[in-house]
Amino acid sequence: MGKFDRNCVIVALDFASESDALSLLECLDPKWCRIKIGKELFTRTGPAFVRRVIESGFDVFLDLKYHDIPNTVAGACSAAAELGCWMVNVHASGGREMMVAAADRLAHYQSRPLLVAVTVLTSLDYTSLIEVGYKSVPAKVGLQLAALTQQCGLDGVVCSVHEVESIKRQSGPEFLTVTPGIRPNDGCRDDQRRVATPAEALKAGADFLVVGRPVTRAANGGIALKEIYAEIAASQALGVPR
Ligand code: C5P
Repeated sequence: MGKFDRNCVIVALDFASESDALSLLECLDPKWCRIKIGKELFTRTGPAFVRRVIESGFDVFLDLKYHDIPNTVAGACSAAAELGCWMVNVHASGGREMMVAAADRLAHYQSRPLLVAVTVLTSLDYTSLIEVGYKSVPAKVGLQLAALTQQCGLDGVVCSVHEVESIKRQSGPEFLTVTPGIRPNDGCRDDQRRVATPAEALKAGADFLVVGRPVTRAANGGIALKEIYAEIAASQALGVPR
């Protein structure tokens, strides 16, 4: 079983409005989760909202998946560091020079955000990868990009739970894996194709679990989050349910 860090869940704050996002935050405790702010909410609310969430005590993963020329991505990573973000990400397919520039720029900060890379978007299947010029299956491309990410000095990757074991085998236990596609044992998958329970993700060795709708769509997000931790705790005591 992987680590049972009570702060291993990152709640994806996928809302279209600041007020909805704030309502959920009121039900959550920074001791029990971190917060992911993605493109939609950031584009609507900007850095001021990120600052507000950080000031409320939450670690913020700024999920803007930078992919641009090295100088531009390095500058964007600096901006995220100066905002006080806990984690920031890039697309590994932006290449070696881009990832090295981002990592080098962040190394200048005394307290810097963790830097992780998205390997292959889980929405891309074999056919879509071929269309954009890759010549292999997503799992193989993902492993190759994870190796490149590590060579460039980043802290880890965003990947599916199903890729965690092979990435950890290849890159070692310290190389972080951040896994979306997490669903509690209640059978609801939404639009995620390949899901895993929180316990399965931790058993595979995932370091952080990104959970969106199971918490954001719950009547009370705080209770939903506690149920997730209860499910993890039960699996640790009783063995992981399959
Ligand atoms: O609601 P749900 O738990 O499916 O949300 C998952 C979150 O993780 C969303 O913010 C989504 O954009 C993000 N994500 C993902 N798959 C990836 C990368 C990020 O679902 N491969």
